Amino acid sequence: MTSDLLPVPRVAVIVVAAGSGQRLAAGQPKAFVGLDEHTVLRHALVGVFAAPPAQVVVVAPADRVGDALTEARLAAGDRRDLVAVVAGGATRQESVAAGLDAVWPDVDWVLVHDAARALTPPAVFARVIAALESGKDAVLPVLPVVDTVKRVAGEVVSEPVDRSDLAAAQTPQGFSRVVLDAAYAAASADHTDDAALVQSAGTTVWTVPGDERGFKITTPADLDRARALLGAAPMPTAPAPPRVGIGTDVHAVGGDGELWLAGLHWPGEQALHGHSDGDAVAHAIVDAVLAAAGLGDIGTHFGTDQPQYAGAHAEAFLARTRTLVAEAGFAIGNVSVQVQALRPRFAARRAEAERVLTAALGAPVAVSATTTDGLGFTGTGEGVAAFAVAILVPR
Ligand code: CTP
Ligand code: MG
Repeated sequence: MTSDLLPVPRVAVIVVAAGSGQRLAAGQPKAFVGLDEHTVLRHALVGVFAAPPAQVVVVAPADRVGDALTEARLAAGDRRDLVAVVAGGATRQESVAAGLDAVWPDVDWVLVHDAARALTPPAVFARVIAALESGKDAVLPVLPVVDTVKRVAGEVVSEPVDRSDLAAAQTPQGFSRVVLDAAYAAASADHTDDAALVQSAGTTVWTVPGDERGFKITTPADLDRARALLGAAPMPTAPAPPRVGIGTDVHAVGGDGELWLAGLHWPGEQALHGHSDGDAVAHAIVDAVLAAAGLGDIGTHFGTDQPQYAGAHAEAFLARTRTLVAEAGFAIGNVSVQVQALRPRFAARRAEAERVLTAALGAPVAVSATTTDGLGFTGTGEGVAAFAVAILVPR
């Protein structure tokens, strides 16, 4: 299924994860072995989704397609419409062929990647894609061979090998889609990788630099290495979602002195009852912000047992609230507050109220005001009500 929101990408990545992992011998298919709290497959897919946008086809063992789909969706985030999972075959080559069948028609370039190369950095994908875009039909990430290499016959060295013209092949290997489709359609023998298959069909294979973190997890020692690397540099986790909070407050008209509302002094207007200045707008904001932070409500922090807030104005409440949520690790995104009141008339001072509240809270506060068509206590002018919503961002 293609997404309405995302353009159909020109690149597909086939992530082959259908092997059984005989050499790792972990008691289950290699892709589902845990590296930390996440599996080999999940790490591989996080890397794939951090690379330039692509259709992603995961090839999984036939009895683990559902598990693979769960992992793929979790790794994909808002790119989940780009994900498909298909069942693999008995050999890697058969698994790639199954993945190729699921590539969308519009795709021009196909990358084939081993899930077992779980820590491959996204930059390697970008390098392969850039080489394809520059017109190359087959691209292979490679590393120089660091060990001295020998050719052996049984237990005996038959000859030394000059390593200067050797390279170790990695994945993702990238191909023009036409070239890869044709090579697979014509393939008779089994090849160790896709570059070898395509080259046997007569296509020149170009190299780009690979990355040491793209090593293939094959043996238990490789698994230890991957786990150690993750311990040193934990996988980036998705940012915590923003948090929303709601607050309301009501005060009756008829307190002593003059009116304070929305952080403003209103000479000549009747005051509101309340422990402090009765500023229902400020108190609704405080409740909304505290709720979003999970810090209780206004009574938790500004109760009648705290005499310093008797008679205090909006600025004192909002400044303290700002400190409380900052200490709890949140930044305030913005606040929207609406006041329902017959009086005072807000229109002329709405912008002024927004400036005062915004300055005190340290985040944008939008103020709107309405009357209630003569209905209810706000309509008769017996009291004012305020409703606020706040959004907070974890830092
Ligand atoms: N692969 C696959 N289908 C197969 C065989 C392998 O999709 N029939 C995938 C593996 O899941 C792996 C990649 O190809 O991501 C490279 O293969 P390899 O490292 O050999 O993995 P396994 O075949 O699982 O391991 P082993 O050879 O030790 O059994
Ligand atoms: Mg294998």
